[in-house]
Amino acid sequence: MNAPSQAIEVHPVTGGIGAEISGVDIARELSGENVAKIREALLDHLVIFLRDQEITPEQQIAFVSRFGEPDIYPFVKGLEDYPQITPILKLPDETVNFGGIWHSDTVYLAEPPMGTVLYAKELPPMGGDTLFANQYQAYESLSAPFRDFLDGLTAINSAAKGSAAATRSDRVADGGTGREEVLESEHPVVRTHPETGRKALYVNTGHTVRFKGMTEAESTPILDYLYQHQIKPEFCCRFVWSPGSVAFWDNRCSQHYPVNDYHGHKRLLHRITLKGDKPY
Ligand code: SIN
Repeated sequence: MNAPSQAIEVHPVTGGIGAEISGVDIARELSGENVAKIREALLDHLVIFLRDQEITPEQQIAFVSRFGEPDIYPFVKGLEDYPQITPILKLPDETVNFGGIWHSDTVYLAEPPMGTVLYAKELPPMGGDTLFANQYQAYESLSAPFRDFLDGLTAINSAAKGSAAATRSDRVADGGTGREEVLESEHPVVRTHPETGRKALYVNTGHTVRFKGMTEAESTPILDYLYQHQIKPEFCCRFVWSPGSVAFWDNRCSQHYPVNDYHGHKRLLHRITLKGDKPY
């Protein structure tokens, strides 16, 4: 029997990106109608937020599995019994936060994840917010000739880029998978979203090294401009977590940045990524 529907409401949090969803308890089995409404909200708003959820690892996996297939993060071991769940942890004596640079998740893979679901377990007394940026807006707000130039380019993305690699060093030292090969991908600089058909900028300062066929010296000034442009405040929202909060973002058209302003405190969230397809 189909699960009964819950009365979901969607409340945008800015003009450009992000919406809070109320009226749903994701510990319960969701109806097909509720899954469709949540997916529609994700496609419309790029990142959605739910508050006050009490879910076990099994319930997080069950929720995420209604939207796709959970993936395994390559460099840090998942929970003992749930390898799909990566603990996103910063301890009171640590100063580096995991993923603490603007990025879209694991763009260095041939098929990067379509989305990510993060569930807040333990939070600092203040700080530790996450910013999100709309990459449709970043693309659409460029001039037509510059868009035409970027449309023809391919980006080389690498897991070894120092700035992003440094943000996972504590977790790799503490619970790494032992994978040491350099993961590298080639993806279009402007990707077309497979569900909405809209074009989004798909380079990021965490992983993108250069444009294919161009040197780093030629690529860097253009990439540096794009890294500044793509996180303009008008493309962004900021999520203030509370225990039980869930954020579900679309990696195909957004980027995120966890703010590292809570030294001396613990922050722990459970992350599941959803398998994606080859960007085009
Ligand atoms: C991540 O990049 O998955 C971490 C996001 C966060 O800690 O808020």
